[in-house]
Amino acid sequence: MRLLSARLILSLILAITLVSVLSVYYQGRAERRNLSNDLERRAAVLADSLAGNVQPQLSSNSTKKLQQVVDRFSNRERLAGVAVFDDRLQPIVQSSSLAGLMQAESPVLSRAIATKQKQSAFVRIGGARFHIYAEPLEDDQHSAVLVIVHDATYIQAQTAGLWHETFLRVLVQVFLIVLITVVIVRWSIAGPIARASQWLRALRAGNVEHSSATMPDIDLLRPLAQEMSSIAQSLTAARSAAEREAQLRQAAESFWTSERLSVHVRSKLVGSRLFVVSNREPYSHVRSGKSIQCVVPASGLVTALEPILRACDGTWIAHGSGDADQETVDVHDRLAVPPEEPKYTLRRVWLTKEEEDGYYYGFSNEGLWPLCHIAHTRPLFRADDWEHYRTANVKFANALLEEMRDTHEPVVLVQDYHFALLPRLIKKKRPDARVAIFWHIPWPNSESFAICPWQRELLDGLLGADVVGFHIQAHCTNFLQSVDRTLECRIDWEHFAVSREGHRTIVKPFPISVEFPENAPPESDQGSSYLERGALLRELGVEARFVGVGVDRVDYTKGILERFLAIERMLEKRPTYQGKFVFVQIGAPSRTHIKRYHDLLADVEAEAERINWRFQTSNWKPIVFLKRHVSHREILRYYRAADLCVVTSLHDGMNLVAKEFIAARHDEQGVLILSRFTGAARELLDSVLVNPYDIESTADAICYALELGAEERAARMRRLRRLVKENNIYRWAGSLVTELCEVRLDMPQETGNSSRAQSAAQSHSG
Ligand code: G6P
Repeated sequence: MRLLSARLILSLILAITLVSVLSVYYQGRAERRNLSNDLERRAAVLADSLAGNVQPQLSSNSTKKLQQVVDRFSNRERLAGVAVFDDRLQPIVQSSSLAGLMQAESPVLSRAIATKQKQSAFVRIGGARFHIYAEPLEDDQHSAVLVIVHDATYIQAQTAGLWHETFLRVLVQVFLIVLITVVIVRWSIAGPIARASQWLRALRAGNVEHSSATMPDIDLLRPLAQEMSSIAQSLTAARSAAEREAQLRQAAESFWTSERLSVHVRSKLVGSRLFVVSNREPYSHVRSGKSIQCVVPASGLVTALEPILRACDGTWIAHGSGDADQETVDVHDRLAVPPEEPKYTLRRVWLTKEEEDGYYYGFSNEGLWPLCHIAHTRPLFRADDWEHYRTANVKFANALLEEMRDTHEPVVLVQDYHFALLPRLIKKKRPDARVAIFWHIPWPNSESFAICPWQRELLDGLLGADVVGFHIQAHCTNFLQSVDRTLECRIDWEHFAVSREGHRTIVKPFPISVEFPENAPPESDQGSSYLERGALLRELGVEARFVGVGVDRVDYTKGILERFLAIERMLEKRPTYQGKFVFVQIGAPSRTHIKRYHDLLADVEAEAERINWRFQTSNWKPIVFLKRHVSHREILRYYRAADLCVVTSLHDGMNLVAKEFIAARHDEQGVLILSRFTGAARELLDSVLVNPYDIESTADAICYALELGAEERAARMRRLRRLVKENNIYRWAGSLVTELCEVRLDMPQETGNSSRAQSAAQSHSG
């Protein structure tokens, strides 16, 4: 810095001096020219007025008078003398001061005589500078020349004075400019730079807090400051990720984070790419008045898959179901999402209304959904729906094949019961693709599954995959039993794999989960659960001491009616809770084009009203039913405020509400009441497990949860949190991708003992 200032000052001195010298030089020249011109003018004026006096004396040959005239004029300021010469250049008269000074043969005089014109010149005589002005005088007899000589040394003296004065001025100027510059540089540049470098040093040493990860405000360096701030933020984020990683290693934990998943997936993909196919899209565009809104649908599947796609920049292929979806894609039906910070590609597939009716509402949701969920709603199988299901699977397969055309050994994660035929369709065209299908709903026992008229086609389609995933082992076993009863194949019960027509499919459980935010939410988002509860109850217009919450799509598999009955029964059995316990049911309407769902929505509303009518007072009612889509952020407020969360699914693949509730309870409070018919019940053993069909014992479970001692409550929640933290969504994705990437694509057909496999199958199913 010091060296820099010395250089800066030196350059400044040089520059200022150079500019000043040049300007003084030109100024000096101009001054000299002005003085010379002025002298010339004065000499001419003097000569004119003298000529008038000299001419008569010359004509009258009066040398004496002529001498008098010359002497009279000779004492003028700066006048060296006056003389009159004849045409032979001999002096007729001259001032005494000119004696010996003028050389008669001065070329100026000769020129004046010869040309008979006025002549002037500056000459140097005896080291001094003079100005000579010669004016020819003529009459009939005489030819002479009037000479006016000025001492011009003062011009030089004045110019030298100017130089001197300017030199002093430049000196002072240089000094002042340098001084001011140094002060400015110190105040406005060197100071802030020193502060910035101090800040950078602190950043490098890791002493800058996250909140102050913006560079000190420096006007001059603003663009640089902005860049540095972004670098600082990335550095801080990278450092905290590295620290977290190091802490995890230190604690010998195997906690999965989005960063770890990102690194893991990229290392597994080795140059290949990830493709996800699902029916529901992660972002849909819907018209709202004249504008278009981007909506994230209420779907556990979207919640689970979004972080994976964000982590590894893949392509997600999904049905474009929003009414403004077509307007928001490019010519290839693609768009980059999330809209605010694009991380991956969404490719939309279009379906006609008939296709959507048959494939989605019909075969998927009126056929497969009730077939796989044992909730006593009869599945409907229509040939038309099946045809549309097949067509839609082919459409999605074609879109996927197009997307992965340039990718070698692509990795494909197909999602759910909407795409049972897709794995086979893909593998037929792209045997180099690694294909997994994850079935997000239960797989029923083989007798139940066998009622599906197209069971063979469904199983055959699924077995096209390299990996078939379910939430729990029981669903894998049910699936293998269905395969065993339906198709010619070899089942390896030891490794849970099926070999068929030279292809091997691994069948494994991958319990899905949620993101587990390690740190508590920011202060602004988390009042104490007590304050939060007060605020929420005020918004709902009820008063209560205890709060329960349920969050579901309004679906007959979720046991919402059973839940309400259990609440009613609890209030009957324990009247002390009347006026004190309120249950908030958040119910997002779902699949309402289907009559069963449409009717259910009305039933749930009516049942809540019936129970409320029975018990309610002026400021309290037992059930608040919020029949709408509620944002995840708002749901979190309810999770954090509740004493208990009730999940009473009659049958559920996993149920992510249970895990979301646990992940939200940083305060280690709250009790989870959980149906034993959910996949989650296999893991979350510290919840209060219930049989939702048993209204009596579910009512007791609600009382039990409300009355559980604070320590026991916290101990249960602590264990549940550890479990969900350990088995979070990143682990799910990591395991699925690992399994798929380890599949040997050239696996030869199994040559195991088929009958042994058969008998093992029988003993297992027994
Ligand atoms: C279940 C399914 C998901 C589906 C979700 C929402 O969880 O397993 O695949 O995304 O329900 O249903 P929807 O029909 O609205 O997509």
